[in-house]
Amino acid sequence: NIIPAIMAGGRGTRLWPLSRATAAKQFLKLAGEETLFQATLERVSDSTMYGAPLVITNEEYRFLVAEQARELGAELSGIVLEPVPRNTAAAVAVAAQIVGERFGKDAFLFVLPSDHAISVDDAYNSCLHSACLAASDGKLVTFGIQPSGPATGYGYIECGIDLGNGAHAVKRFVEKPSREKASALLECGNYYWNSGMFLFQVGRMIAELEQHAPDVLTAAQAAVEGSTIDADFLRLSLEDFSKAPSISIDYALMEKTANAAVVPSHFSWSDLGSWDAVWKIEEQDLDGNVIKGNATAHNTRNSLVMSRTTHLAVQGLDGVAVIASEDAVFVGRLEEAHEIGNLVKRLAADE
Ligand code: GDD
Ligand code: MG
Repeated sequence: NIIPAIMAGGRGTRLWPLSRATAAKQFLKLAGEETLFQATLERVSDSTMYGAPLVITNEEYRFLVAEQARELGAELSGIVLEPVPRNTAAAVAVAAQIVGERFGKDAFLFVLPSDHAISVDDAYNSCLHSACLAASDGKLVTFGIQPSGPATGYGYIECGIDLGNGAHAVKRFVEKPSREKASALLECGNYYWNSGMFLFQVGRMIAELEQHAPDVLTAAQAAVEGSTIDADFLRLSLEDFSKAPSISIDYALMEKTANAAVVPSHFSWSDLGSWDAVWKIEEQDLDGNVIKGNATAHNTRNSLVMSRTTHLAVQGLDGVAVIASEDAVFVGRLEEAHEIGNLVKRLAADE
């Protein structure tokens, strides 16, 4: 059995104004009838393949997690609460420690982001199969997505020698390169985007963390040791967990390890990182528009128009996102939607 660990503690502010500190991206219904977190739970619901998932999140999101899981009737093997945000390296270390204690060092851990849209099909299942084989050979396995341009929000994986069974060694892992560097990497070819999902055996992850990120591992282990249990919630000890450096697993480990593998993947994947990604994945009408909620568009093309509250009417737009939430409106060109980060930072500073 594979034990899924779902990381659901990120804030994902690039979908402002729908995703805010209080309603992170993973808990929103962005594609389809379920939230992204729920879709992640569904993806690992086959009990012939997966054990009950562990969710790693924080105090603030604990009821969202519990409620959204209950809505699906999904059984969790626990909800781990981080007392302070320490990014994904610490979250992965905590998951590895807990799963190792429960199921032993040979257990397979499948670390999943909760903010992606993926469709489970034959291509997906065959990648997962390849990943399991590589993981049982002691690899930290990543899933490589065919890049569609020099995006700066992803990890870039250079594909190395063929390991057989659909997996390759990772020659180089570059997390979030600048635009120039990303273009250069794509030009030399043989690069994939990191999907953000990782599969490995617990013992291997712990050994790698020991070598490359010992501070993260020590803090995470102590925080699990000192944790308290309250129904489904496992609260990590604040004193220990806060000692973990705040760093993502990509920088802390994936850029450094010599034992990573990549499974080049062809399943459909979107990280829904910005409004243009949401527009792309949703079903567009004949004019190329995606209109959701309380919204009307006239003489408009290739646009995303969403309102959760007040009636939103637009006219004469092309390639624009107009997003209205309860208390804020965003208007911007879809083409530069992924660059919303600076705007959101300014808003946070002004608040
Ligand atoms: N528990 C917990 N604690 N979860 C977290 C934390 C944290 O402190 N920070 C982030 N997460 C969760 C997010 O909610 C998300 O589901 C997942 O971990 C990944 O974090 P992101 O912050 O969304 O990472 P990213 O998108 O910038 O980059 C990662 O994903 C890309 C693909 O979407 C990297 O792995 C990249 O290499 C990769 O290409
Ligand atoms: Mg993400």
